[in-house]
Amino acid sequence: MKPAIDQQRLASEIEELAAFSDADSPAVTRVVFTPTDMKARAWMKSHCEAAGLTVRHDAIGNTFARWIGSDPQSPVVGTGSHIDAIPNAGKYDGVVGVLGGLEAIRALQRSGYRPKHSIELLIFTSEEPTRFGIGCLGSRLLSGTLSADAARKLKDNEERSVEEVRHAAGFSGRLEDVTLARGYFKVFVELHIEQGPLLERERKQLGIVERIAAPASLLVTLEGAGGHAGGVLMPERRDALCAAAEVILALEHAANSSGAIDTVATVGICDVFPAAVNSIPAKVRLSVDIRDTNLQRRDQVLRALDEVCRVVSEKRRVATHSELLNADAPAECDPTIVAALSAACKTCEFSFLVMTSRAYHDSLFISRIAPVAMLFIPCRNGYSHRPDEFSSPEDIARGALVLAETLATLAA
Ligand code: GLV
Ligand code: MN
Ligand code: MN
Repeated sequence: MKPAIDQQRLASEIEELAAFSDADSPAVTRVVFTPTDMKARAWMKSHCEAAGLTVRHDAIGNTFARWIGSDPQSPVVGTGSHIDAIPNAGKYDGVVGVLGGLEAIRALQRSGYRPKHSIELLIFTSEEPTRFGIGCLGSRLLSGTLSADAARKLKDNEERSVEEVRHAAGFSGRLEDVTLARGYFKVFVELHIEQGPLLERERKQLGIVERIAAPASLLVTLEGAGGHAGGVLMPERRDALCAAAEVILALEHAANSSGAIDTVATVGICDVFPAAVNSIPAKVRLSVDIRDTNLQRRDQVLRALDEVCRVVSEKRRVATHSELLNADAPAECDPTIVAALSAACKTCEFSFLVMTSRAYHDSLFISRIAPVAMLFIPCRNGYSHRPDEFSSPEDIARGALVLAETLATLAA
């Protein structure tokens, strides 16, 4: 029997999960290890158990929900994504890969299919960098991309360490034990919304990802001198925010002039100290995000940022310090999984585009230990990381169906 997706149930589960939020609807804010995140995790766990999956979690809170195959010793076919959401986000980023993955499994169960390889749904911890400044914390640890020692040094804005926060959330055990052995996964396939406009623009029903762009992020601190906004004359000033403004615009220029549309650079956080209307900014902290599909070009922008910091520092007598948080290589998706996804799209008679993911995903890190690929669902106007993010129930169901067909092929 062919798998059939329960579109309505999936759509209403997405709405239910969105209600676990620290922002008013339609916005979703669900930061890792907050009480809201913990409630959403418990809700997810009960849904996985209701589907007969065996649920476990590791020391960082990555959740594994397994449909045990007829050959339980063979490598696992993995799927899944994340349920944490950045401040003022939408309902679909990450969630579609988790609830769509669960519905794909349930559809296979209903169809009478029985896997040889176990099929495992993963809910990765902290794909979003909101709390600890680094994205994909769970999958970095799973893949050994981030060492347990490096993870232990991470702190949130309130100076609470990963260790303290995960223990308070009830996740014990050694971070060293989070790393999965190479060979744990036979393959890993992630369903996700596109977070860009191409599928809609090209009128394609689904996207098959063949490459994931390389992200880098940094913290840049600029330290000048504070003082009275009336008393300190302009020539005497060492205004850290004016210096930061020059750095931000120069970074934008470096991305714009890379010669490729794939180069992007963003300053998403600008913390000003002391942040008083009549006080000259003494210190500024910028969070910088730079990405490209091409590593050389991405690194060229990193070097341009270094150079502008040096120049602005000298010109404005402001000290600059830059801390590289991550600079990851891109990932190539596995041709066999890409072929299985294409074949499933054809079987279901859905149009598709083979494309690049400019956003990063847990698959980027799982690719270091296993063959991966991703399936994209269109999202309206390409909007993501904002409350009006939207994918239609029909599009989501199409993605879940192709995922089900692909998991069936790969787990046979
Ligand atoms: C993931 O959320 C990203 O920023 O690409
Ligand atoms: Mn996101
Ligand atoms: Mn995501």
